[in-house]
Amino acid sequence: MSSIVNRRSVRSYTSEKVKPNDITKILTAASWAPSGNNLQPWKFSVVMNDEDLTQKLSSLTIYHHWVQTAPCLIAVFLDTKTVDTKIQGIYLKHIQAIGAAIQNMLLAAHEMGLGTCWIGEILKNEHKMKKLLGVSNDFELMAVISVGYPSKDTIKSKRRDISENILSWL
Ligand SMILES: Cc1cc2nc3c(=O)[nH]c(=O)nc-3n(C[C@H](O)[C@H](O)[C@H](O)COP(=O)(O)O)c2cc1C
Repeated sequence: MSSIVNRRSVRSYTSEKVKPNDITKILTAASWAPSGNNLQPWKFSVVMNDEDLTQKLSSLTIYHHWVQTAPCLIAVFLDTKTVDTKIQGIYLKHIQAIGAAIQNMLLAAHEMGLGTCWIGEILKNEHKMKKLLGVSNDFELMAVISVGYPSKDTIKSKRRDISENILSWL
């Protein structure tokens, strides 16, 4: 429970490089997420050794000022080739699995002392992202995750009291 409660989105990073082995651990954590029929519908593109590309990708979001400082960006895709995305209910199921995988990534990174932020705002530029990354239309962009060592105390976001979230408890 402690990782879940203490993880916060990190939007400010030191210049310290992230170890490729730590990124592998984060991707391994993603792969252990549950998914419908264990189809594991996720794919990833990692950018950590190309400053020019990081710059170009960052420019696709209004959050470019801090995204461009992240030592690593991980684009998360839904593999529409191996899963059926035409039926709405099934599509939702795969999207939910991707969400579970991303949360695993954030928690694994947090446990390694790394900070992350789940960036959804960049989705409006999916086509430009895929072109820059050389990713085909068989893959649908779900999010970009920035990863790096936190440079300052993160904003302490709050949560509603859980009693406000319970519709019924019969
Ligand atoms: C689907 C999704 C999209 C998000 N997109 C962005 C984003 O584009 N930019 C950003 O700064 N944070 C983004 N976030 C992070 C949320 O703002 C953050 O999780 C929320 O404010 C709670 O803060 P915490 O993560 O520190 O607990 C996103 C989170 C989710 C789950």
